Amino acid sequence: MKIYFAPLEGITNHIFRNTYNEIYGNIDKYFAPFISPSENCPLTPRERKDLVPENNIGINLVPQILCSRSDYFIESAKELQKMGYRELNLNLGCPSGTVCSKTKGAGFLKEPTLLQSFLDDIYSYSESENMKISLKTRLGFQDPEEFYNLLEIFNSFPVSELIVHPRIRTDYYKGEPRKEYFAYALEHSDNPLVYNGNICSVNDHKKLSDSFSVSLDPVMLGRGLITDPSLSGKLKGVTSETDFSKLKRLHDTLYHEYQKIMSPDINVLFKMRELWTYWRVLFEDKDRDIKRLLKAKKYAEYESIVYSVLLTDKS
Ligand SMILES: Cc1cc2nc3c(=O)[nH]c(=O)nc-3n(C[C@H](O)[C@H](O)[C@H](O)COP(=O)(O)O)c2cc1C
Repeated sequence: MKIYFAPLEGITNHIFRNTYNEIYGNIDKYFAPFISPSENCPLTPRERKDLVPENNIGINLVPQILCSRSDYFIESAKELQKMGYRELNLNLGCPSGTVCSKTKGAGFLKEPTLLQSFLDDIYSYSESENMKISLKTRLGFQDPEEFYNLLEIFNSFPVSELIVHPRIRTDYYKGEPRKEYFAYALEHSDNPLVYNGNICSVNDHKKLSDSFSVSLDPVMLGRGLITDPSLSGKLKGVTSETDFSKLKRLHDTLYHEYQKIMSPDINVLFKMRELWTYWRVLFEDKDRDIKRLLKAKKYAEYESIVYSVLLTDKS
């Protein structure tokens, strides 16, 4: 079974990817959080640093582009091509207001004619350069029925993989995924499909697979994999338990790596807090400590909670 790590802006940067890959592995492809090219700036120095091969050794990485101008996309793609990338992903799912108002991300889905001509341009480029382009899409902008037309458009291009997050923009990341539309894609997509959305356990994968009468493979996992980093190993049958000693290693490595590049304390703690909002479900009986931890402003305070309460007895 193939498992793809979803792009999570602010979380799955190269530091996270390298750390996760070394400790857990079992990921077939990592998708980098989106880069957003603009005029004369195909890639910012920060985006470049995150994507350069030296910072992603041993990682099968697919850069993701968020954009609605094909000339910007192609300029960016050329830079990524120079770095050695042969596969890129287009973001057609980002629900943020500032992104959608610029006809990007999920906002691009409400302009199918523009989208079609954008895809015409970028697939002409990719075919001529022997590059692969995959798409990561929602069902539509405000109505899931938009998906029927969108799928027809996608079917007219050599999409290397169509990753479907079966929600519309206004769903953001909440509620039940609209599974029936993924079932429609399974029947009508001419391109290889990847399911993404709310797989947080082996049982979630099984229930979804049963409901589609296929074993979903590949799958893309995001929040479920942050919450339980052992999930990839569980889905691949390599392990059956959440490994708390590995979680401690993941925590410690990220905590120390972020300290090397960030200051003051509070900025590092913001980064760690975001992770703890996911990890807290693994420590249900310690919710009071987690609440204190989420408020910590200094390393000493944070560490005394993490190492005396949370990551000791379980690891
Ligand atoms: C904090 C956060 C950041 C995200 N950043 C990106 C991104 O950069 N590109 C993208 O395509 N999707 C992004 N997503 C969406 C995820 O990749 C994924 O599609 C979504 O979380 C649903 O999958 P899941 O239920 O497995 O988490 C983000 C989601 C979250 C919660």
